[in-house]
Amino acid sequence: MFEWWEVLRSILGKGLAEIVALTAIALAGLIANFFRKYIYGWYDYSRRLKRALASVSRVEAASGLREGDGLWLTKPIEDAKSDAFIAALHASKVLIVANAKGGVGKTTTAANVAARLAELLPKSVLLIDLDFQGTLSAMAAGPEGNWVPAAGTDSLATHLISGDLKPADIINMSKPVASANNLKIITSFYDLAQAENRVMVEWLLGDRKEDIRFRLAKLLHSTLIRQNFSLVVIDCPPRLTTASIQALAAGTHLLIPTVMDLPSGEAVITFARQVQNFKGAGVCPHIKMIGVVGSLQPPVGDIAPAMMRINDRLNDVRDSETGQKVVDILDPKTFFPTSTYFRNAVSNGGIAYVAMGNERGEREVKEKIIALADHVKREMNL
Ligand SMILES: Nc1ncnc2c1ncn2[C@@H]1O[C@H](COP(=O)(O)OP(=O)(O)O)[C@@H](O)[C@H]1O
Ligand SMILES: [Mg+2]
Repeated sequence: MFEWWEVLRSILGKGLAEIVALTAIALAGLIANFFRKYIYGWYDYSRRLKRALASVSRVEAASGLREGDGLWLTKPIEDAKSDAFIAALHASKVLIVANAKGGVGKTTTAANVAARLAELLPKSVLLIDLDFQGTLSAMAAGPEGNWVPAAGTDSLATHLISGDLKPADIINMSKPVASANNLKIITSFYDLAQAENRVMVEWLLGDRKEDIRFRLAKLLHSTLIRQNFSLVVIDCPPRLTTASIQALAAGTHLLIPTVMDLPSGEAVITFARQVQNFKGAGVCPHIKMIGVVGSLQPPVGDIAPAMMRINDRLNDVRDSETGQKVVDILDPKTFFPTSTYFRNAVSNGGIAYVAMGNERGEREVKEKIIALADHVKREMNL
């Protein structure tokens, strides 16, 4: 077996043979390192670039080029399939308040439903603001509060979607909501926009092991969060941003607020279809639609025709496997009316449900909030 070694020694003599052998080993190491660094590096780079371009590319259709499925549906999606993930999700209570349109009452709905449920539930309710405009954060901070991150620091929402926080950090760093018991918030600010782009580019080019779509899910489905909060309510921005995708993947239930008019209805239908795509692809296969809830109801005028049109169009959004309609419009008794109480609370920095007194007008608005919160409580089995 070592014949070649004996031959080498007999030719070169004892010392020289060892030197030649060691040099040969060192050279082999250098060549291997060169191969790993340059040849494999080049191969890995082109593979990642190809994957990145494929996940954002347009596709050929009969009518010409059209937008493809997009970055967030990039396969493989493995995380949501594991038994451990499904068990933790089913034990968790995470309400997502979202819609593709802005100014339709998402933040108002999230804040007021959370404030009411915080009154009813045994443990705290955690609000998470994922819209960098920070409307919910300002509401929760109250008139004296300051939700704006100190100069040179980032908002909590940025740390949350970046994967910097552990469940214990969420418990320690979330801030109590002014004048509401049992309600805490993770605040957001404009730095979140940049963080969302960064995380998206990292995901696009990184090709790393961690699937960033499930970062928030893994945090919020942890035992520690379940032990400390009865419910998590996430207020989403009106776009399918990095934060929204993380929210959908973390959500157990989805509530879609809308104004009951036709343009807003189109946003609901588009959004419901998008959620169906995400469900089908495995980003949020287990999320349950609570329904579409009216907001900013006009004091005069009939919403029934718009509601019927929206309902008709929602009939076309069906589950590809079961053929079932995926989302319904809730009972109008849960719809929030247009009311100065909501607007005043925001201008004064506060949540209407907490700020309102007991005058007749206030009681009427409160009843709607209570009706919607009760419905959510039943649907989520809280
Ligand atoms: N029911 C309501 N009555 C009066 N004003 C409302 C009502 N709901 C929301 N608003 C106001 O409308 C604007 C948009 O509401 P918001 O809840 O922030 O919507 P979104 O989160 O969908 O953008 C805010 O200025 C808010 O104060
Ligand atoms: Mg909002």
